[in-house]
Amino acid sequence: MPHFQPTLAVITGAARGLGLALAETLSRRGYRLLLADRDAAVHETAAALGADSLQCDVTREADLIALRDRAFAAGLPVLLINNAGTLLSGNAWEIPAADWRRVLDINLVATVDACRLFVPAMQATGSGQIVNVASMAGLAVGPWLAPYTVSKFGVVALTESLYLECLAGGLPIAVSVVCPGPVSTEIASALSANPASPAGQMTLGLQQHIAAGLSPSEAAQLIADGIEARRFWIFTHEEARHAARARLEGLLADQPPALPFAQE
Ligand SMILES: NC(=O)c1ccc[n+]([C@@H]2O[C@H](COP(=O)([O-])OP(=O)(O)OC[C@H]3O[C@@H](n4cnc5c(N)ncnc54)[C@H](O)[C@@H]3O)[C@@H](O)[C@H]2O)c1
Repeated sequence: MPHFQPTLAVITGAARGLGLALAETLSRRGYRLLLADRDAAVHETAAALGADSLQCDVTREADLIALRDRAFAAGLPVLLINNAGTLLSGNAWEIPAADWRRVLDINLVATVDACRLFVPAMQATGSGQIVNVASMAGLAVGPWLAPYTVSKFGVVALTESLYLECLAGGLPIAVSVVCPGPVSTEIASALSANPASPAGQMTLGLQQHIAAGLSPSEAAQLIADGIEARRFWIFTHEEARHAARARLEGLLADQPPALPFAQE
């Protein structure tokens, strides 16, 4: 559907992967773009789309403030997509503290900070939309992805809280959470995997699952449809709903978590 009132889509983690595909899709749908990434490659991505760009590490509050100020200087309604993210695998107790904190900072704390900074500005301008990219790992738990899973459950809970508070306060802000299944990006390609360990086997399987996943552009189109329909839950894969249902059924039946495969 044509989008007659121009909206500025601010997308974090837009240099590649799902963020880049969202930028391409929203550009085709008539949105203006402000693309952010900690990688300077975001400037080339943006130039190819005729978009504005900012090198921005979402874990640095000063960078997020600069992003917010650049966004609202354009004088357009703002759609913020908190998409930047990272993935890590291993036994929860073996992952070094610094790696745990890095994943939580990028995936969760930065999303909290961006919401803290953008909501008041959206309230002041009388409109806005916030879309937080979580994962099906924010709805169901598997082994050997604890920092990622904890961060994505946090993003889902944050976004549910934000939705309820905007509703209760009568704020003119639409809020959504995206829970994709596998999308064929580079997110898992740098993970090291020792095939002799269960964690390593899972990591190799995850890399294959992601490589065989939905294309970023297909996922971006489904997400853009959800954004334009202002749906709270935005899914790209039925398997995310199945995983959420299985977890909830286990919980209600007082069952402990189950491994996703039979144990030898
Ligand atoms: N690919 C999948 O299968 C999948 C599934 C579910 C959810 N997701 C989520 O989708 C989002 C995008 O993932 P992707 O698959 O495109 O990954 P990707 O690795 O291809 O891209 C992530 C982008 O985020 C940027 N980034 C990382 N840390 C940053 C930081 N501190 N500041 C700014 N930018 C930073 C990277 O430079 C990169 O451009 C993530 O939140 C991810 O958790 C991905």
